[in-house]
Amino acid sequence: MATPISSSSSFLRFSIGLSAFLCLILCSLAVRDTKTHLLSRTHTVEVNYLLPANTCSPSTKDHDNKAASVLKVVHKHGPCNQVHQSKSNSNPADQDEYLTQILNQDEARVNSIHSHFNYPNKKYRIPDLLAHSDATVIPAQSGSVLGSGNYIVSVGLGSPQKQLSLVFDTGSSLTWTQCRPCSVSCYQQKDPIFDPSLSTSYSNISCNSPACSQLAASGVASGCSASTCVYGEQYGDRSFTIGFFASEKLTLTSTDVFTGFVFGCGQNNQGLFRGIAGLLGLGRSKISLVEQTAQKYKRFFSYCLPSTSSSTGYLSLGHSDNGRSGYNAVKFVPLTTLSQGESYYGLGLVGINIGGSQLPISASVFSTSGTIIDSGTVITRLPATAYTALRDAFREAMKRYPTARSISSLLDTCYDFNGFKTITFPKIGFVFGNGVTVDVDATGILVQQSASQFCLAFAGNKDDRSVGIIGNVQQKRLQVVYDVAGGKVGFAPAGCQ
Ligand SMILES: *[C@@H]1O[C@H](CO)[C@@H](O)[C@H](O)[C@H]1NC(C)=O
Repeated sequence: MATPISSSSSFLRFSIGLSAFLCLILCSLAVRDTKTHLLSRTHTVEVNYLLPANTCSPSTKDHDNKAASVLKVVHKHGPCNQVHQSKSNSNPADQDEYLTQILNQDEARVNSIHSHFNYPNKKYRIPDLLAHSDATVIPAQSGSVLGSGNYIVSVGLGSPQKQLSLVFDTGSSLTWTQCRPCSVSCYQQKDPIFDPSLSTSYSNISCNSPACSQLAASGVASGCSASTCVYGEQYGDRSFTIGFFASEKLTLTSTDVFTGFVFGCGQNNQGLFRGIAGLLGLGRSKISLVEQTAQKYKRFFSYCLPSTSSSTGYLSLGHSDNGRSGYNAVKFVPLTTLSQGESYYGLGLVGINIGGSQLPISASVFSTSGTIIDSGTVITRLPATAYTALRDAFREAMKRYPTARSISSLLDTCYDFNGFKTITFPKIGFVFGNGVTVDVDATGILVQQSASQFCLAFAGNKDDRSVGIIGNVQQKRLQVVYDVAGGKVGFAPAGCQ
């Protein structure tokens, strides 16, 4: 058995706080020795390499896109996130607790996306900001839908600029940051992460300004407090941010600076984890970063999510200046807009490939629900009928491995690879309406639940009506290109480590 960590992981399950800083699970499928051939139907991976390293090895595949603004993408928990390195704890005993926590948060996020589609006009009331002191904030349960299993970039806000770690999120249009310290919900954080009083370029947006109307038109709850435009955004069952809608100077790189960037300056933020300053909204509505920088970047961006917490990816904004040469290997599929979900990136998924052949699922199963791609959802959600077919085929292909009990209700197909030096599992691909098939990387098929146990990293929706979501595990290592102006999204393999 070649697993580098102890498998005695069932004790010390109580330590949620410490486990938050572990990155042994979703970020952990380090396949440094994958024997995958273009025409083969399976991936064969050495079990030795299934865990992230303790030190950060930045992706060597640097993006060659010279005209674009390129930001480094790191996993929140792990050696590549320098901001909170010192706090990290590598006790493997906490890893199953950590996975449970990530999956619970993922369920909350998906529930909130589904309710957006099912009840598009449902708005919650923004509590009166002045009457809402920190003392009334309900303590966060186990972090937020934003905090874990997610990818962050660093941007500068204000004058002088303050460097902020933001979760980048294609499923949300509003960018916001914590502008007030919080008590219970943010552990020991005593200072506001972004203090507008220290910036000379900050200004509130007034209720009667066009920007305030755009906020409301973007599906974000909005209101007015002493003629200042107020926003409220709810991301999951328990997490929300409420604050002033404001404008600031946003510094992405030394040459790419945007004045008058509108964002939410959060006064009451609940459910946040230490280490996240807020969120960078890359969704499709008017207040999104993509729209606010459209003059410069022409609504074009791409990213690559690293396979593990010990590697890095990138978020690149704008076109390459060397023609389209950088996008040769990219296979594009049309971008669609789902009714009731205009702020999400829709894709015309019509089928699933496993082990080289397409599952017999009627395309109407996918067209009934529709599918979006989201950088903030962890586990891909498929219509119930499609998931069942995929799971059954996967189980059939994995019969030689002993099964394991899943530690979560979300995942139901787990294996114990204890004693296996290498493991072989079927390739899985997404089939789109224009005939393009996008293969998931070898690191995007299984998630680790304990030292030697791994689960199929897909899940089913309750039925075939709720929207399907291509999550971030399945996007690992792919170069994902959003040509929003051109109405298409593209994928290329091995975009980063
Ligand atoms: C923004 O508006 C709030 C509420 O009206 C106010 O308390 C705050 O001082 C304003 N900030 C600035 C910089 O104008």
